Amino acid sequence: MQMDWAKGLLRPDAEVRESVKTLGQLSGIFANTKALREMDPTTVVYRVQAWCPIPEGTEGGLFWGTTVVEPGLVDSEYFMTHGHFHLKRDRTEYYGTIEGEGALVLMDETRATWMEPMGAGTVHFIRPRVAHRVANIGKSPLRFVACWPSDAGHDYESILGSVRGFSMSGVARCSSKAMRDFPNPTRFSCLSKNLIQASMSAS
Ligand SMILES: [Fe+2]
Repeated sequence: MQMDWAKGLLRPDAEVRESVKTLGQLSGIFANTKALREMDPTTVVYRVQAWCPIPEGTEGGLFWGTTVVEPGLVDSEYFMTHGHFHLKRDRTEYYGTIEGEGALVLMDETRATWMEPMGAGTVHFIRPRVAHRVANIGKSPLRFVACWPSDAGHDYESILGSVRGFSMSGVARCSSKAMRDFPNPTRFSCLSKNLIQASMSAS
């Protein structure tokens, strides 16, 4: 396997799967459905490359991937990934940022939500039983790599339908300035409204 580290992209290979998520495929995650309907549903929100050299579900292996989240907004919400828990809740993951400015939004099973700033060189350990989503809060594509267990699986359903914190995408309403100015930006446990307040007080 070959990777272009400058761009964070995997070279084409038979074992590399590529997928694209558009606004039309992400209708469940943005709060302002009216604003979403007025946008072109074919707009690309993010692209994923996944290198899966063994069958998904195999215990003991690791997968590798790259995600590129485009810059953009749906009303006041940043473009973001769908987000998921792992089907096997005790499985973990690493994210590493190549370039861009992002927010890694994390939520535990009590729905306590916090986030970690993402920028070139940051590495993030996603702990067991923590859902994860990435928003591009910058003006250029956000590129990050990921490594996760081959039997982790993805549970997207537990994200959809929740009404607090994570699914309301409060991070989208937080300015990047608020993240930089927050006293403890690497881990703060609060819900979106607190972040909005932090954003307002910081500006
Ligand atoms: Fe994951």
